[in-house]
Amino acid sequence: MRPPRPRHGTSVLHVPAAPAAAALLLALVTSGAMPWSPPVEAASPRYPSFTRPLIIPKVRSGSAVTLRAKLADVQILPGRKTRMWTYDGTFPGPTIRQRTGRTTTVTLVNDLPAAAGSLTLHNHGNHSASASDGQPDAYLAEPGGGSTAYTYTGTEDGGNERGAFQWYHDHRMDVTGRNVWMGLAGMYIIDDPADPQTLPKGAFDVPLMVVDRSFDAGNQLRYAFDRDGVTGDVTLVNGVPQPYLAVADRRYRLRILNASNARSYTFALSDGMSFLQIGTDSGLLPAPVRRTRITLAPAERAEVVVDFAGKLGKRVVLRDLAADGPQRSVLQFRVTRHVRDDSSVPATLRPLPVLDDAPAAERTFSFGQARLTGRWTINDRGFDPMRVDASPRLGTTELWTFVNDSGAPHVVHVHGTDQLLVSRDGRPPAPYEAMKESWPLGIGETITVKLKLTDNLGTFMLHCHILEHEDAAMMAQYEVVP
Ligand code: C2O
Ligand code: CU
Ligand code: CU
Repeated sequence: MRPPRPRHGTSVLHVPAAPAAAALLLALVTSGAMPWSPPVEAASPRYPSFTRPLIIPKVRSGSAVTLRAKLADVQILPGRKTRMWTYDGTFPGPTIRQRTGRTTTVTLVNDLPAAAGSLTLHNHGNHSASASDGQPDAYLAEPGGGSTAYTYTGTEDGGNERGAFQWYHDHRMDVTGRNVWMGLAGMYIIDDPADPQTLPKGAFDVPLMVVDRSFDAGNQLRYAFDRDGVTGDVTLVNGVPQPYLAVADRRYRLRILNASNARSYTFALSDGMSFLQIGTDSGLLPAPVRRTRITLAPAERAEVVVDFAGKLGKRVVLRDLAADGPQRSVLQFRVTRHVRDDSSVPATLRPLPVLDDAPAAERTFSFGQARLTGRWTINDRGFDPMRVDASPRLGTTELWTFVNDSGAPHVVHVHGTDQLLVSRDGRPPAPYEAMKESWPLGIGETITVKLKLTDNLGTFMLHCHILEHEDAAMMAQYEVVP
């Protein structure tokens, strides 16, 4: 049963409105910070490029995982460590990895200082019950060691959940942007025996969480809430600025997650190399797609295979073509050893689920901005946890249309289930966005998706995944009804 929801802004546990919280945080973490000017790529007094190895977050498997939210001093930049809000002392938090069809209970313990407020945990991309979905104002882990358990069954619509590269992060109402910026994010991999088993695995399967952050002169995180979105001037991969990775001359599976609050990346490889995209937010594609550039908006993922065969002794850089200066260089691969490659990428990977029942309902969600207040809205309203914005019926298929009628790009994320793209601006979907759950929606664009809500009754969110838009109320909720 769902506990009664406090009204927005009236609960004693309620965290101050985002701008106030951000100001408080700024006062806590910085004093007289000078804006930092980015170093040149070749040599920088702040952090020379490609001098630190990539870190692979530790992996947790098994049916019971505890994540302790706590302060930790993390070595991000050279010199003084950065005080962060972490899961288990690292940034990113541990990678949770589980085989599909198995139940995993993740217990979140809140050991952060009381100023951080209550926390909630969302498994982004998962098909979770409402009570385990990371509700913004219920099922919270209270400060002072409070805990909440979230259960993921690994099943969907009578079968196993599809293998996917997901992630988990805080989702507290009004302060998700601050909490994620401070470090509350980690990766979550569902392994699926129904996926082809010849793809690169083990040490050749590398998850990459890409974020941007800003630091003050004392290496501490700076966060000043801006409802247009907060971006940083240092790009981190798995928490390391511009790292390198020594690789063998063979195929690698790279799972790339954009976990930034508001920044989009356009990834490309140097040395004439390209990506073979095999997956999206929602697991494997029907067939691999060759791409030279991949743009990822916040919360989007791309799984790619990159083949370093014939590149022994070379260096290949993963670049962000959307950035200038040092932020253009994201990660350097150093091809340092020769091995025999036993992996392969089949010509077909995984068929899409078939949703061919006649749609039981069609809905439109329009992403806009209130003219007078500047507040972000969905269908002209800001988020209200006491209001249900749509009530789809369990087990039926619906068509949802998302319209961007504001002056800024958005990223539409629907909780609860994957969606099939029907059309983007009236055109059939590109092969690499046939099925996802986080959709970039440019100014003036319209997309229509098809979805089927199974297994779980109750409320789920849909929102813009530019986290400051979300915190500034660009969120709605739907309730699945019998
Ligand atoms: Cu990644 Cu509603 O969240
Ligand atoms: Cu989500
Ligand atoms: Cu938005």
